[in-house]
Amino acid sequence: MSKCPADFNFFDENVLNCPYDFYQVLQEQAPVYHLPGTNIYMVSRHADIKQLLKDTQTYSNNFNHLLKGPEPAPEVTAIYAKAWQPVDTMITADPPRHKTYRTLVNKVFNAKRVDAMEDYMTAIVHELIDNFIERGECDFIHEFTTPLPVYVIADQLGVPREDLKEFKRWSDSFARRLSQMATPEEQVEDAHNIVAFQMYFANMCEQRRNEPADDMISDLVVTTIEDPDNGEVRLLNMEELQSVLQQLMVAGNETTTSAITGGMLSLIQNPEQMKDLQLHPEKIPNAVEEILRMESPSAGMWRVVKKDSEIHGVPIPKDSLLMLRYHAANRDRQLFDHPNAIDIDRSNADDHIAFGQGIHFCPGAMLARKEMNVAFTALLSRLDNIQLVEEKSDLTYWPNIVLRGLKALHISFDKRSI
Ligand code: HEM
Repeated sequence: MSKCPADFNFFDENVLNCPYDFYQVLQEQAPVYHLPGTNIYMVSRHADIKQLLKDTQTYSNNFNHLLKGPEPAPEVTAIYAKAWQPVDTMITADPPRHKTYRTLVNKVFNAKRVDAMEDYMTAIVHELIDNFIERGECDFIHEFTTPLPVYVIADQLGVPREDLKEFKRWSDSFARRLSQMATPEEQVEDAHNIVAFQMYFANMCEQRRNEPADDMISDLVVTTIEDPDNGEVRLLNMEELQSVLQQLMVAGNETTTSAITGGMLSLIQNPEQMKDLQLHPEKIPNAVEEILRMESPSAGMWRVVKKDSEIHGVPIPKDSLLMLRYHAANRDRQLFDHPNAIDIDRSNADDHIAFGQGIHFCPGAMLARKEMNVAFTALLSRLDNIQLVEEKSDLTYWPNIVLRGLKALHISFDKRSI
């Protein structure tokens, strides 16, 4: 018997883990699907999402209220009261406000800066591999894919490596807050972590104002913006600095980690494609696009519906939420043949929308792509016969609606003789 959307509960861990049948049923039967018992409408087709992303008047990114949750406990509110209050800069800002901050970030986070990082990234990647290569085995997430993006962005921002111990914890708290799936105890822990993050960065900004260096924080504290409310040319205030830094520091960690981890697992499961890449490293850039398509670590993003609207005949009332399911769109059969199979030679792999599209298109896309290319080039040139260590791995995904990442991947390998 064929299935229908009501046979699936999107919030069920099993469905979140393996959502592919659900996506296909939605795309065929209910491309704009009202999730039962919620005010959320899930959009799953590639073409529809691309179209909706253009209409920033109706579908707003101002979902800050979602981040706060329905009613935070007084204890949580009290902790956040000690810190700088959220302001809408990039991800939660709409035009014209969004442009002010996005222009600033594009200025300090430009192609020249990213291009200049290749040698540095290559050095980090080899250093990480050096740390485990003699053991013939490693905890791939903890020893490779987690530290890599944290080291890279921290270095660009100007955060010393010895201060990075806390970063993963802080970054995880931001991700959990965004997912809306934290328990009351976790909400308290997240609030403490987020405040600690803010205090740390406030000190950094102060220090860079007094002693500028060649890094992004030094640029951010001296670059002026035109105030989005009154046009006055001024420096960023501390609330704005906190918001921009949080996004730069956090948005790229979990996502890049998950993309490289998921890509490595897919290659292990398809050894003939792994071999092909080792023989033809010039194929790595296309393989990276295919991995981004398959993994879509930023699996879904919110939009708030600003006025009554209708998509595919489905009425969407004002104040509803859209869940733009990038992960589903990147497996849409209308665009990708055999979408659930990795194909490093896929000719339209880069038609994916894993980095979104339109005004909120990921400003870290260039950096993430470079990190993935550098990582796979080094891994495939130094390791051979890469295998899954099943008993130490957990190939399920963290229960999170917006971010998608594997829980544990341990690999074994031979050292490649070159
Ligand atoms: C594989 C890695 C990455 C993926 C899959 C990814 C995905 C995305 C997606 C889908 C969006 C658009 C959100 C929307 O539609 O509202 C986005 C926005 C954003 N990303 Fe990324 N990202 C990645 C890496 C990075 C990195 C490395 C950074 C920074 C260093 C970064 C910073 C941001 C920021 C600041 C935004 C908000 C932009 C805006 O609203 O204008 N991302 N990312």
